[in-house]
Amino acid sequence: MAHAQPESPPRLVAVGGMMGSGKSHVALRLARLLGAQVLSTDEVRREFAERGVTDALAPGFASALYPEVLARAAAWLRRGRTVVVDGTFRRRSLRADARRMAQAAGATFLFLECRVPVELARERMRERDDPGWEAMLEAFLAGWEPVVELRPEEHVVLDTSGPVEALDALHFDPDGTLRWPGATPGPGPGVRGAG
Ligand SMILES: Nc1ncnc2c1ncn2[C@@H]1O[C@H](COP(=O)(O)OP(=O)(O)OP(=O)(O)O)[C@@H](O)[C@H]1O
Ligand SMILES: [Mg+2]
Repeated sequence: MAHAQPESPPRLVAVGGMMGSGKSHVALRLARLLGAQVLSTDEVRREFAERGVTDALAPGFASALYPEVLARAAAWLRRGRTVVVDGTFRRRSLRADARRMAQAAGATFLFLECRVPVELARERMRERDDPGWEAMLEAFLAGWEPVVELRPEEHVVLDTSGPVEALDALHFDPDGTLRWPGATPGPGPGVRGAG
């Protein structure tokens, strides 16, 4: 498998984009390929909820999750471990924070934006039927800030509208470049079907 060895320097790979677009599947696949630590905003949200933080499940709670997730990511990067962070990264400021933290920890930064049409996201989320998914999706669509702030080599768009098995073809070249038929360098046309 490519990159079974630790990467040097380590990387921070942020997997973001539309709710229900397949971020968590992509993050797990990449973590296996890269031998990376996975951190997810959803998991940290659950931790907060289990600790009795009553508004942890509200869409607006996201802003409290990222500093915690990025602090944990920084600790791994400083130990030389590549990290995959699974979250929407809907705001420019969140992506900028992630990129700044990676640089400070001596890591490189890559933002992978998973993209599917809104209707497909809605269908997937309806099937999964998590409590409050409709409000979460609406909050995402209202708050999504298109990626215009990153350099082309820091931003790759993944069309994750196909079957999950398509992700099996994701791999990295020996030089660390992500290869996949559904991958195109950013920024691309924005969230399709939104607005
Ligand atoms: N090509 C695909 N890639 C990833 N997931 C897919 C794909 N096709 C269908 N799915 C399905 O879409 C649903 C969403 O996948 P996943 O949980 O990975 O998305 P997500 O972006 O992490 O969602 P959330 O925003 O709720 O965290 C799952 O039920 C998954 O099985
Ligand atoms: Mg997820």
